[in-house]
Amino acid sequence: MSFIEARHLVKTYGVGEQLVHALNDVTLEIQRGEFVAIVGASGSGKSTFMNMIGCLDQPTTGSCLIAGEDIATLDSNALANLRNRRIGFVFQQFNLLARTSALENVALPLLYAREGDLGGLTKQDRLEHAKKRLEQVGLGERLSNTPAQLSGGQQQRVAIARALVNDPDLILADEPTGALDSKTSAEVMDLLTYLNEQGITVVVVTHEQDVAAYANRTITFKDGRVLADQKNAPRNLESTKSLDKLPKTLQGDNSL
Ligand SMILES: Nc1ncnc2c1ncn2[C@@H]1O[C@H](COP(=O)(O)OP(=O)(O)OP(=O)(O)O)[C@@H](O)[C@H]1O
Ligand SMILES: [Mg+2]
Repeated sequence: MSFIEARHLVKTYGVGEQLVHALNDVTLEIQRGEFVAIVGASGSGKSTFMNMIGCLDQPTTGSCLIAGEDIATLDSNALANLRNRRIGFVFQQFNLLARTSALENVALPLLYAREGDLGGLTKQDRLEHAKKRLEQVGLGERLSNTPAQLSGGQQQRVAIARALVNDPDLILADEPTGALDSKTSAEVMDLLTYLNEQGITVVVVTHEQDVAAYANRTITFKDGRVLADQKNAPRNLESTKSLDKLPKTLQGDNSL
């Protein structure tokens, strides 16, 4: 069984008299542990597809299975539950709470965690768990900084720590480097590469070729359809693999 299975996925929006086919018969599978880039022109359906596999939205027709569960058949409670248990989101604009410390930003999703070992933690345990995740993204020294007191790259790392706090199987990142310069983008992509190497499935939407090159596979959307689906060439270790640039706490920590 594939981790993600989209079958004849269609998402249609009605705008006035017009129908927009945001997704128009998309069939594809993503296996556990893959690192996938989604590319394509503006309006080609990339975010719509991400919202679908992120259980934020449901198809008009067709099916989308996440770990065997068809999201088209789930009610909003069950969708939220699937999302909270399995999926971490990273956005272009970080979406951190402005007047809130890095630590509390990362701990926040644990308030909404349901059954299982991460539901019902005490505040102290939630903060402890969040601290561990911030250490893992190299921000152990910045726990009490608010977003305004952090660089763009550091803010995105806080957002990645927040995405990790529920121990997800899947990270969905829609333009995670869209607001960052190229050096900071590389740091963020190195971090996502590292997390993928720890076994987390990663799907990234990007407009940038350099960013897509971090993935093992590139899926190109056009007009709501899959135009191409290709394996990427292995990356040049010398120039692109910079785990040694990541904080030491990331290396050799297998607790993810
Ligand atoms: N809520 C909505 N209502 C109406 N139309 C929508 C809605 N969401 C998306 N669309 C339309 O669906 C199509 C696909 O949009 P989508 O956001 O998936 O594109 P995208 O590939 O992510 O583009 P971008 O690169 O600009 O982010 C577009 O034509 C868009 O206008
Ligand atoms: Mg988009």
